Amino acid sequence: MRRRMLLTTAALLGAMALSGLVQAQNLPPLEQKDRYKVGFAQMESNNPWRIAETKSFQETAEACGWDLVSTDAAGSAAKQVSDVDSMIAQGIDVLFLPPREEKPLLPAVMKAQAAGIPTFLVDRSVDPNVAKAGEHYIAFLGSDFVDQGRRVAEWTIENFKGDKGIIVELEGTTGSSPANDRKKGFDEAIAADDRFEIVASQSGDFARDQGRQVMETLLQSHPDANIVYAHNDEMAIGAIQALELAGRKPGEDVLVVSIDGTRDALQAITDGKMGVTVESSPFFGPLACDVMKRYASGETIEPWVKVEDRIFTKENAAEHIDEAY
Ligand code: AHR
Repeated sequence: MRRRMLLTTAALLGAMALSGLVQAQNLPPLEQKDRYKVGFAQMESNNPWRIAETKSFQETAEACGWDLVSTDAAGSAAKQVSDVDSMIAQGIDVLFLPPREEKPLLPAVMKAQAAGIPTFLVDRSVDPNVAKAGEHYIAFLGSDFVDQGRRVAEWTIENFKGDKGIIVELEGTTGSSPANDRKKGFDEAIAADDRFEIVASQSGDFARDQGRQVMETLLQSHPDANIVYAHNDEMAIGAIQALELAGRKPGEDVLVVSIDGTRDALQAITDGKMGVTVESSPFFGPLACDVMKRYASGETIEPWVKVEDRIFTKENAAEHIDEAY
């Protein structure tokens, strides 16, 4: 009799594990109430994308019943970790965290979990070998960065007119998930066509100024470069400035391709200076509200709440400029 009961319990646990119920039970609960103290720990505010993301959280706050505690780590992963510490001390109910880099932000995720605070990673992720959605945090809300890089490469393969594509790659913040994944997606896809060669790949930290400076340096060592792949629009715009200063003609003798969909990038595409940007949306506020409410109502949240991205080229850039940031 006892043996049969044990077997039945084991079978039940197995079925629960398969359905994700066991996982959900380990996660901190979130009660349903009218107002929540919500933490949003931004990493930096040095580009339009980050500013638009913060604004999206601020604009969502009232409608979603959030008393928003938001911080700006000014580009320091260490400060972002201590910002999360101070939010935990202030007794937030929920944490939304865009981790600047994959490894240095792991302690923030683990501490929030230990404090019983439901945490959602927004737009960037942490090292998936150490921290997992559905176990250490609730879910990741964001784009498929590998796919973004792949789509830029596929567009380049289809649209580059020359015989030999000599590519300079401007990488995002070293150790961040978009820099790692956008590089992987692009480099693997472009390698399928032997017309193309990546001759240099260097970080410009997702910043316009650094993109310009790195491009200036790389132009000295690779004056024959005729394609620039930037991991975000800010660096692409910086690269366009460097190219023009060097007497090059972006859009004519150099193809510039990128990711994000900022106003300046859509303008550059309309002006013929840039070829393509694959969208990466910063407008996470409404999605964060929806996912938090679903979680509070007891729903099991999918580990990756995926954001679908559009593509902007000369065919549609002008018509989307007014909605850009
Ligand atoms: O994590 C998304 C990236 O971070 C955006 O592409 C970039 O512009 C931002 O800083």
